Amino acid sequence: MKIKQIDNGLKGVITVPGDKSVSHRAVMFGALAKGTTHITGFLMGEDCLSTIDCFRKMGVKIDVSDKEVVVHGVGMHGLKCPNEQLYTGNSGTTTRLLCGILAGQDFDVTMTGDASIQKRPMKRVITPLSQMGAKIDGVDGNYCPLTLHGANNKLTGITYELPVASAQIKSAVLLAGLYAEGQTTVIEPACSRDHTERMLRALGADVKSEGRTIVLTPPEDLTAKNVAVPADISSAAFFLVAGAIIPNSEITIKNVGVNPTRTGILDVLKAMGADITESNFRDEVEPTCDLTVKSSKLKGTVIGGEVIPRLIDELPVLAVAAAFAEGQTIIKDAEELKVKESNRIAAMVCELSKAGADVKETDDGMIINGGNKLSGASFETYNDHRIAMSMAICALGCEGESEILNPEVVAISYPDFFDTLKKLGGV
Ligand code: S3P
Repeated sequence: MKIKQIDNGLKGVITVPGDKSVSHRAVMFGALAKGTTHITGFLMGEDCLSTIDCFRKMGVKIDVSDKEVVVHGVGMHGLKCPNEQLYTGNSGTTTRLLCGILAGQDFDVTMTGDASIQKRPMKRVITPLSQMGAKIDGVDGNYCPLTLHGANNKLTGITYELPVASAQIKSAVLLAGLYAEGQTTVIEPACSRDHTERMLRALGADVKSEGRTIVLTPPEDLTAKNVAVPADISSAAFFLVAGAIIPNSEITIKNVGVNPTRTGILDVLKAMGADITESNFRDEVEPTCDLTVKSSKLKGTVIGGEVIPRLIDELPVLAVAAAFAEGQTIIKDAEELKVKESNRIAAMVCELSKAGADVKETDDGMIINGGNKLSGASFETYNDHRIAMSMAICALGCEGESEILNPEVVAISYPDFFDTLKKLGGV
């Protein structure tokens, strides 16, 4: 994919695809609920299709059309033993949340995914689930393929202090908690996305959150409720940054999910000087609004501490924003970026350097001295959707022409990314 520098701005009103985290959960929890769940705005990206595939293999009927996804729930105890391994593709959320659900079933099952998934740490969910009584075998006790021995298991609720602020670990423990005897309590070091808590509550479960502590009392069953998936702020992030760094731009993104556990990107971009306005607020299970960004003069900032889990997936594109900002940006406390779909610290440092940015890797992030004139280059994606899209946005501001190698990887979370970019006047 070739991308040229933009000289007359990006303009338009766009919608971006449905939220990945909410789409996964809508299928998973819909499958475990009694009744039918109609999901609108579902993200038809490869990761969420992996979730659908896994639940179909466990006997859940799921109809997919252009308009909606319909999940015919089987109830908390209605999943069937699959005839084959479950394949979770590139999706960490599918793999880790499924660990929690499968730990509570009365059958054994093996799960694996692509080359990236097989390198991602699973001990972080195996440890608490084992404390609850689950039996899980993995390669070196940490990697896929994982075999979950659910048969003859009895789970017991625990109090678990998460070593890292991770919604995937928190959700795995809470989902196992659905099947445990007694309450399950999770304490987070900083608040991570709370879609699991919100959705379980909407389905009738008793989930109480107070600060960083979440307590789940296991329900008899869950009751289906339709889900309107908001647009994904993690996908909107690419256009928020593009609109801010490319002169003469004005982009409105409709109906974006602005759950406060996800809006770190807005806080940081505004602190950098970005002109972002919010309108048309709607407060449902997940709050939404329209976001409008206009080109702005950005300045460097420090990104670290409690905001990190609120923008973890947006850090690659924030690194791009920092490269176009005046002054220094420090990204710290972000070690988790090393164990995402790729090592996103190393990847962004290497690719931004190719364009001529002044960027240095640190143990827990990077330091970017912004404002260098950047030039087009041939950018690697590390088979990571967010690196591909971040470097595509970077390319819009690089002098001359750039190339994104294996651009098709964007299909994991945003199959139409390049079409939207074209619509705005990019590509
Ligand atoms: C997700 C949680 C985050 C995020 C991922 C989606 C979720 O991962 O990076 O893209 O849906 O729960 P961690 O919980 O591992 O930080």
